[in-house]
Amino acid sequence: MNTNIIAHRGASKYAPENTLPAFELAYQMKANGIETDVQLTKDNIPILIHDEKVNRTTNGTGYVKDLTYREIKVLDAGSWFSSDFTGTTILSLEEFLEWIRFKPLYLNIELKNNKIDYKHLESIVYENLMKYQLLDRTTLSTFNPSSVERLKPMNQSIGVAFLTSKKKSNLVSHAKKLGANALHIKYKLLNKALVEKCQQQKMPVRVYTINKEPSMKKCFSLNCDAIFTDVPDIALNYRNNFKHTN
Ligand code: G3P
Ligand code: MG
Repeated sequence: MNTNIIAHRGASKYAPENTLPAFELAYQMKANGIETDVQLTKDNIPILIHDEKVNRTTNGTGYVKDLTYREIKVLDAGSWFSSDFTGTTILSLEEFLEWIRFKPLYLNIELKNNKIDYKHLESIVYENLMKYQLLDRTTLSTFNPSSVERLKPMNQSIGVAFLTSKKKSNLVSHAKKLGANALHIKYKLLNKALVEKCQQQKMPVRVYTINKEPSMKKCFSLNCDAIFTDVPDIALNYRNNFKHTN
């Protein structure tokens, strides 16, 4: 099996995370998919940003939930990374879906509702995906178990992943009970027994965030379904060499 290479927040080692330049780069590098994070503005527009606040990755301040989309759209989301990216703006989910629509890329949209449980985030994102006919190549993931439960009615038509960094016995059955049909885990949780359990349950297992060759090697040898990486170019190159030597 080929482990898919998913660009984590785009090719985020080389361009500002969750922005068009990072996504473009991942596409040019021939990543298999893109992972991105979604939060909701004050006026309920889903936008792509990792943190609850705009402080770290823009020239603005404050919580996304307290800013309107218009207020967010004028922020500079590139300069913090490098002056080469000055003028880069935050994308709405809709702008991202327009961009990815006709490109052969998987989507992993992470609902960032584990700290702020945005009302109706699940259905807002789902309806956008339906509109762009992207359900069949998208996985929605979240660290929030209640959100996974809310996504359960949708899990026939879309991938729903429980995301976790916490050790737990019976993790696979726990995720399944919540209504997930995939498991996204932090690398430290990865072991052979867990992967085998996922395979028995026909649950794809994907691992974050894998930027170094030894951890890539472990994921590839265990036949994980995908890795999330900030360096898709390195991962693709390594996967290619790995295939030829194993
Ligand atoms: O979806 C995998 C990974 O992105 C989860 O953690 O904090 O990088 O969004 P984080
Ligand atoms: Mg994420």
